[in-house]
Amino acid sequence: MREASIGASEVKSAAVDGDFLIEQVTRQLVTIPVGTLGADGSFERGTNILPTVNAPVFAVLPKTINQVYTSFAEGDFSLGQLSLLPDQEAKMNLDAFLGRHAAILGQTGGGKSWTVASILQKIAAFPQSTVLLLDLHGEYSKAFGDNAEVISAADIEMPYWLMNAEELLGLMIDRAESSAPNQNAKFKELLQAAKENHPENVALGLEKITIDTPVYFDLDSIIQEFKRLDTEMQPKAAGSGLKQGPLYGQFTRLLMRLESRLNDRRYDLIFKPKTYNTSGSMDDLFRKVLGEEPSNRKKIVVLDLSPVPFDVRGSLISLTLRCLFDFSYWHSRVNGERYPIAIFADEAHIYLSDASSDQAPRESAERIAKEGRKYGISLTVISQRPREMSSTILSQCGSFLCLRISNPDDQAYVRNLLPDSIRGITSMFSSLRRGEAILIGDSMMMPTRIKVDRPDPTPNSNDASFVKLWSNDPSDLDVAAVLDAWRNQKVVE
Ligand SMILES: Nc1ncnc2c1ncn2[C@@H]1O[C@H](COP(=O)(O)OP(=O)(O)OP(=O)(O)O)[C@@H](O)[C@H]1O
Ligand SMILES: [Mg+2]
Repeated sequence: MREASIGASEVKSAAVDGDFLIEQVTRQLVTIPVGTLGADGSFERGTNILPTVNAPVFAVLPKTINQVYTSFAEGDFSLGQLSLLPDQEAKMNLDAFLGRHAAILGQTGGGKSWTVASILQKIAAFPQSTVLLLDLHGEYSKAFGDNAEVISAADIEMPYWLMNAEELLGLMIDRAESSAPNQNAKFKELLQAAKENHPENVALGLEKITIDTPVYFDLDSIIQEFKRLDTEMQPKAAGSGLKQGPLYGQFTRLLMRLESRLNDRRYDLIFKPKTYNTSGSMDDLFRKVLGEEPSNRKKIVVLDLSPVPFDVRGSLISLTLRCLFDFSYWHSRVNGERYPIAIFADEAHIYLSDASSDQAPRESAERIAKEGRKYGISLTVISQRPREMSSTILSQCGSFLCLRISNPDDQAYVRNLLPDSIRGITSMFSSLRRGEAILIGDSMMMPTRIKVDRPDPTPNSNDASFVKLWSNDPSDLDVAAVLDAWRNQKVVE
C-alpha cells in the first residue's frame, strides 16, 4: 500500500501565500491474487477471476486465514506463528519443502542455525524420520538430545573403496600430464582386476563386478603394480642388456601424488580404514550414517565436520552425499518405495560453491538437487552468502526461507531467484527481526512472514557477549589446555 501526502514544497509555498492546506491522501493498494475462497469456505490456490477497479475490499478473519493455511499444508507441520497474527500457526507443506529442496538464507547472526534446529526438532517428532545434518562448527551436538547421533568426522571412516572410478581417478590423475591417458587406462584395468579377484568379492557371487561396484579392493596392491611398471626393465630383443619397459616412468608423478596423500595422516579416515575394510562392513557404515543401527536408532545424524581440515572435508562430504544418493536410488528400485532422507547442509557456501577448488562436493549435491526428488532424497542448503553458493542448487530450490538480509547485493541476488510476481517482497528482508523469516515458494500458500519457534534446546551458536565476559574478574588463562586440544584436534576431558 502506498500513501502520497502533501509534499514539502507545496507546504512551503502555501505558507508564503498564507493558504491553508487540507491533507489529501491518495491510497494505492497493490494486490497479488493468491487464490479463491469458495462459497462453502474451501480455498483453492490460483484464480480465474480478477477483481476490477472499485471492487469492494474485505479484511480476512483469522478463521479463514487458518483455513487457507491448513488447506495447503500437508500434515500439521508448522514453523512458528505468523508475524502479523501471532495466534495463527504458520502451517506449511513439509513434503513440498523437502521434496523440492529448499534454501535457508540470511546474514550472519540472523538466526539460520536456530531455525534449522527448530525445524529438525519438529521433524524429530515423527516416529520415523531420517535426517543427515552437516554441521561445520560443531554447533548442533546438544540440540536434539536422544533423537540424534552425533558423529565426529574425525571418527567416521569413509573408505576409499566406496569411491567410484571417476572419483578415484580425480584423486590420482592430473589430466594436464602427458602420461595421463596411460595412467587412466592402466588404473582402470588394475582396479577391475583388484575388485574381481578379491576373495571376499568372489564369495559375494555378483554376476558382474565393474570398476564402479562398491566393493572392497586392496589399494596397496595397485600401488605396488604401478611401482613395478614404473621401473620395469626388459631384456633387449637382440643380444644382451636391458631396456626400459613400455610404461617405464609413466607413473612416477602419479605415485608421488598418491603417496603424499597416503602419508598425510589427515586422510587416514579415507585411505586407511580400520573399521570399514571389507565389503561386508558397508552394511554397518550405512546403518551408522542413516541412524539405523538396530540397537541405536536415531532420527537425526549430526555429522560434526569441525575437526577435519578443509580438503579432507570436501572428499568426505562428496562421498557421503553420493553414497546416500545411490542408496536411495537403489532403495526405490528394490522396494518400489522410497526411503526419504533429508540432508541439511549448514554453511553450504563453504563447500558447495561454484568457485571452490574442490568441485566434488558441489557435484554430488547438485545431483541430489537435480534428481533427488524422484528417489525421495532432499537437500536443504543453509547459507549466509547466497551469491557464493552453487547457482545450480539454488535454482533447483522450490522453497526459500529468508531471514534478515540487509546487504543490497545479496537481496538483489535472492530477488532474481524468485518468480516475477513476488520479487517486491525482498525489500522486506532488511526489516526482519532475529528469528523472523519469510517463507516463499511451493511449501507455503503465499509468501508469509513467520516468527520461527525458538528451538529447545538451542544450538550452541550464541553471540559472544564481550561486555559480559569482560566484566568478569581477571583470572589466569589456561593457554596450555587450548594448545593441547588444538594439537590433539579434540577436547580431552
Ligand atoms: N527464533 C529466535 N528467537 C530468538 N532469538 C533468536 C532466534 N533465532 C536466533 N536468535 C538469536 O540470534 C543468534 C544467532 O542465531 P544463529 O546462530 O541461528 O545465526 P546464523 O544465522 O546461523 O548465523 P551464522 O550465519 O553466523 O551461522 C542466536 O544466538 C540467538 O541469540
Ligand atoms: Mg549458523
